Amino acid sequence: MKIIRRKSDLQALTGNWRRAGETIGVVLTMGALHDGHLSLVKAAHSRADRVIVTIFVNPRQFNNPEDLAKYPKTEESDARILGPLDVDVLYVPEPEEIYPTGFSTTISVSGVSDGLCGGDRPGHFDGVATVVTKLLLQTDADCTFFGEKDYQQLQVVRRVVADLDLKTEIVACPTVREDDGLAMSSRNLRLGSEARQMAPVIGRVLKSAANVIRQGGNVALALETARQALLVAGFDAVDYFELRSDSDLLTLTTADQPARLFVAAWLNGVRLIDNMPVATE
Ligand code: PAJ
Repeated sequence: MKIIRRKSDLQALTGNWRRAGETIGVVLTMGALHDGHLSLVKAAHSRADRVIVTIFVNPRQFNNPEDLAKYPKTEESDARILGPLDVDVLYVPEPEEIYPTGFSTTISVSGVSDGLCGGDRPGHFDGVATVVTKLLLQTDADCTFFGEKDYQQLQVVRRVVADLDLKTEIVACPTVREDDGLAMSSRNLRLGSEARQMAPVIGRVLKSAANVIRQGGNVALALETARQALLVAGFDAVDYFELRSDSDLLTLTTADQPARLFVAAWLNGVRLIDNMPVATE
């Protein structure tokens, strides 16, 4: 696996691949890799001849400087984890390769960015949309792999690719969970052991709200019951617990179309997010 930090070096290599008729699959990450990320790398191998993983902790998608400062930077161990996975390139761009002096363009997606994590974190999805577009263009991606764990992000990226005629195919990959149901996240490490034991409640509460709604129960009541259940279980705050339509993320008051539950809640100073379709277990 080559570690590349310069756009020009990357493009020399992808140019060779192109000339040889090879396809390129790209997995975009901010590092601190876990099995959720690795599932995307495996999916990339099944679809593309060449696989690029990127690590870039994108300052423009953090609206809180403390959160950015606390974000783990673990390039060495990430490279070690990727070692056995037959990745062709680990692209870790220098900041100026992404945001050169004078950089002034922002890609801003309306609609699917509204509310949920977009409401709580102003500017977050502008930062995501902008960096994803740059990285897909720099890597010359034929296909790219996004986790359903960050479902709103996935829909934002789908919108960007469709609206800007990017040639990259977006492939959605299922959320990878720990044995106890907690969605894998680099933030889980910050929970501490007591909170880590409580955290899987989030998955159980999602599941029971999904069951109630699927069986025709009152949506507002199911959402409020779920919110209270998290607080009673020891969560400090619930930013949102909502039912939205599956693709355009419109707020729903009844599950009369494909729908998904979304939650963000705080536990021991850590913000956890998760989501679940209403139609399947
Ligand atoms: P990051 O949080 O590192 O996530 C990188 C990719 O891994 C995203 O597509 C995310 O949805 C996926 N992922 C994370 N946890 C997962 C899990 N438990 N199961 C399946 N997939 C999982 O998301 C970002 O970085 C950034 O916003 C990025 C897209 C790289 C732009 O900066």
